[in-house]
Amino acid sequence: MIRQRLFSGIQPTNILHIGNYIGALKQWVDMQEKYDCMFCVVDLHAITVPQDPKELRQNILNTAATYLAVGLDPKLCSIYVQSEVPEHAELGWILSTITRLGELERMTQFKDKSKKRGEKVGVGLYSYPTLMAADILLYDTKTVPVGEDQMQHIELARTLARRFNSQFGETFVVPQALIQKVGARIMGLNDPKVKMSKSEAPANYIALTDEPDVIRKKIMRSVTDSGQEIKFDPGKKPAISNLITIYHHATEKSIKQIENDFQGKGYGDFKKAVADAVTEMLDPIRQDIQDYLKDPAELQKILDKGRDAAHDLACKKMCLVRKKVGLGRA
Ligand code: AMP
Ligand code: TRP
Repeated sequence: MIRQRLFSGIQPTNILHIGNYIGALKQWVDMQEKYDCMFCVVDLHAITVPQDPKELRQNILNTAATYLAVGLDPKLCSIYVQSEVPEHAELGWILSTITRLGELERMTQFKDKSKKRGEKVGVGLYSYPTLMAADILLYDTKTVPVGEDQMQHIELARTLARRFNSQFGETFVVPQALIQKVGARIMGLNDPKVKMSKSEAPANYIALTDEPDVIRKKIMRSVTDSGQEIKFDPGKKPAISNLITIYHHATEKSIKQIENDFQGKGYGDFKKAVADAVTEMLDPIRQDIQDYLKDPAELQKILDKGRDAAHDLACKKMCLVRKKVGLGRA
């Protein structure tokens, strides 16, 4: 049986948190048997905001180590670094020529990020979604597991695939996003109205490398809602609903079962249980990240193999794309 192609990536901008794990990485692990998977460390995307070159290089390795530590298996999928397969940038450029200004101006991620940067917004931040479309279309990807916040970008990738196909003839597969229902958006522990993010204060997120005592402190100090019931109701009880979502993912218990288990108990008891569950979930991951970083030779070998496999596919696709567009010589 031919497995469908799946592609996803995370920017190596910083340490990853449980929002990334629940919203992205955990789904990837479940999918690697079923799909033909490419998991990319998207460093070209990371430089759309200013970077420290030394830190970026370290973060690329950290992110790759995290991919492996959460359970991605290099025997089942390709794990590689985006900039090491230059066809991503090349296809990104070609796609930028059929992308309309208005389509990029509408992107909420661009609006948010450019507001923060004021006058120093680079063109790369603006055309970020065309590079993301290139990542996806380069590999005939059918399925793209991402968090809800990336929906608009996937829509653009679909539009560009269709537009290219109708302009130059059938070339690209039209991809589809795959979004999880519960936990697609993990919110900040110190403010359940904003999404958990590494650009917020440390009290907002739990990093995958946080030690147990830090995890406990962050969860015990997380904000709560009024009332005292452990009830899943994101509209009225955003903070407790967020903790329930996290607990649901850490224990695999259903929301209903969690509500039943904690009937008559208070926020304090529930938070303790959440802290225990999250600690248990992260213990082996933290350990494995450290082990991979201690033995970079193994990590390098895996990334070499992933790059070669990705480059093979990308080369073939770009030959076709150049021909369709009319680039180069016959
Ligand atoms: P980022 O770290 O923002 O580049 O995101 C990497 C991946 O994690 C993307 O698929 C995001 O949608 C997902 N993600 C990031 N933050 C969260 C969050 N708070 N909740 C759920 N998913 C998230
Ligand atoms: N933009 C995505 C994010 O911030 C990362 C990303 C880049 C990506 N290229 C991709 C995700 C292709 C899925 C497919 O999360």
